[in-house]
Amino acid sequence: MKLKVAIACDHGGVALKNYIKDSFKVKWIDLGTDNAKKSVDYPDYGHALAEAVAEGEADFGIAICGTGIGISMACNRHSQIRAALCTNTTMAKLTREHNDANVLCLGARITGDVLAAEIVQEFLETDFEGGRHAPRVEKLNNPN
Ligand code: RB5
Repeated sequence: MKLKVAIACDHGGVALKNYIKDSFKVKWIDLGTDNAKKSVDYPDYGHALAEAVAEGEADFGIAICGTGIGISMACNRHSQIRAALCTNTTMAKLTREHNDANVLCLGARITGDVLAAEIVQEFLETDFEGGRHAPRVEKLNNPN
């Protein structure tokens, strides 16, 4: 079955979002923004993406802003979301294996297009390991 991936960005991430969309043949759910020249607020796009993933509209989410930091903060306000800001493929692999991350965050002003696509590939093709990691992820989901 084809993966469904939600993707969203602020104005700083439009070019990288388009590059990523062109690089992978998954079913994209594009939540904007589409205009790199019009400044928008990254929390609006992070919250929309987090809701789409939390509600099961997408298997995974990819969230992009200038650094990747602000939009990852927005995504991680949602209790079912485990958003990971990754700057290399090892982080992408390990956050899937250990944290069962369901949102990948990228910084368009930090990570170049080609490396970002490699990070996306690693994230999408790596499975959660379960085992000893499962109770830890459960503790992320239920802080109390
Ligand atoms: C927007 O200028 C910038 O603050 C945003 O893209 C992001 O880097 C925030 O964390």
